[in-house]
Amino acid sequence: MTITLNWAILGAGNIAAQFVYDLVLNNQRQTEYRHVVQSIGCSNQARGSEFIKANNITSENNYGVIPVVQSYQELYKNPNVNVVYIGTPHVFHKEQAIECLHNDKHVLCEKPITVNEKDAQEIFTVAKKYNKFCMEAVWTRFFPAIQIVKQEIYQTKVIGEVHRLFADLSYNGDVSSLPASSRVRDRKLAAGSLLDIGIYPITYARILLDDKVGDEHTSFKHKSFLTIDKEDQVDHLCSILFQYKDGKQAVLTSSELVDGPKAYVRLECTGGWVEMYSDNPARANHFKIFDKTGGLVLEYKDDSGYNGFIYEANAVADDINRGKIENDVMPHKETLLVMSVMDSIRKENGLTYDQD
Ligand SMILES: NC(=O)c1ccc[n+]([C@@H]2O[C@H](COP(=O)([O-])OP(=O)(O)OC[C@H]3O[C@@H](n4cnc5c(N)ncnc54)[C@H](OP(=O)(O)O)[C@@H]3O)[C@@H](O)[C@H]2O)c1
Repeated sequence: MTITLNWAILGAGNIAAQFVYDLVLNNQRQTEYRHVVQSIGCSNQARGSEFIKANNITSENNYGVIPVVQSYQELYKNPNVNVVYIGTPHVFHKEQAIECLHNDKHVLCEKPITVNEKDAQEIFTVAKKYNKFCMEAVWTRFFPAIQIVKQEIYQTKVIGEVHRLFADLSYNGDVSSLPASSRVRDRKLAAGSLLDIGIYPITYARILLDDKVGDEHTSFKHKSFLTIDKEDQVDHLCSILFQYKDGKQAVLTSSELVDGPKAYVRLECTGGWVEMYSDNPARANHFKIFDKTGGLVLEYKDDSGYNGFIYEANAVADDINRGKIENDVMPHKETLLVMSVMDSIRKENGLTYDQD
């Protein structure tokens, strides 16, 4: 059965291009999913047209459709669009997502969905009111590698019992050389490593140490340190400890000041360990499982050619096709849980934003 989604891309920036790359490749491959890009919402017409060209969204790659470049207001009203991918900085998500929902559109919104839990709750309340699908785009959860590694570790138990996780997302962003208006530095854009990238190590702790999501989650406690930059007044260095009720622990770190380890995930078990590798730790596409002696037990590498956004895009298509308003892998309550953890980490370290 073929499932068709008619997308609008709101914000023609960095991550939106990587998302669209996967839609275009999927369409070239003529899979059972038709991800038609109908509209590019961009604050600048010329840049929007350039986005279409640069990302090769041609009629041949897009089921005969050449997308229109629209203002955000025009995009909200576009009758050819049924789902909007929001790829703007976090501080704009709440208003934009609610505007899409008001205009009868489903929403896939980049992470973090908002700056805090209460704003995320507001979006979900509106989504429920209009009976529209809405999901935070935590693409990491949808990679086949995640299902495979969990199967090997928790079902087949190839290396014994799980006890500890190290997960990191860090890069040396040469922060001091960036303009103060950069979304990496500007407190008004809710800059800070916790919200921008620390959300991923937290996500790995939620995925790899707990089989449940949302309301069903296994309870855990956490402690943290954020180093608040004197000039930017946001964290560029973050360390978090989790302890689950069954004793499992996680050491989670993020930074924009230093590069992280090549094996950005190390999951330690009684009979060995798992390492994950990627050019981008959010992109869960390669892992190795080792036994206690360092012998390779299993290696998995995603060679699909996709960036990996296609997995969440197809999950969205399946859910919308079935009339669902939230996804089982990334339900509203899981977003709210992670947002509440990040709220409490910020509180523990005295980091507030205007939205709080
Ligand atoms: N899934 C992932 O792995 C991943 C990776 C990176 C980022 N993200 C998330 O994606 C979102 C966007 O990140 P990005 O790196 O793609 O951002 P970006 O390229 O800096 O900006 C994306 C778009 O947002 C709009 N925008 C940017 N700065 C703005 C400002 N100061 N005022 C108003 N609009 C502004 C622009 O839209 P126009 O084109 O309309 O002008 C821009 O093209 C963030 O929430 C981020 O956390 C996710």
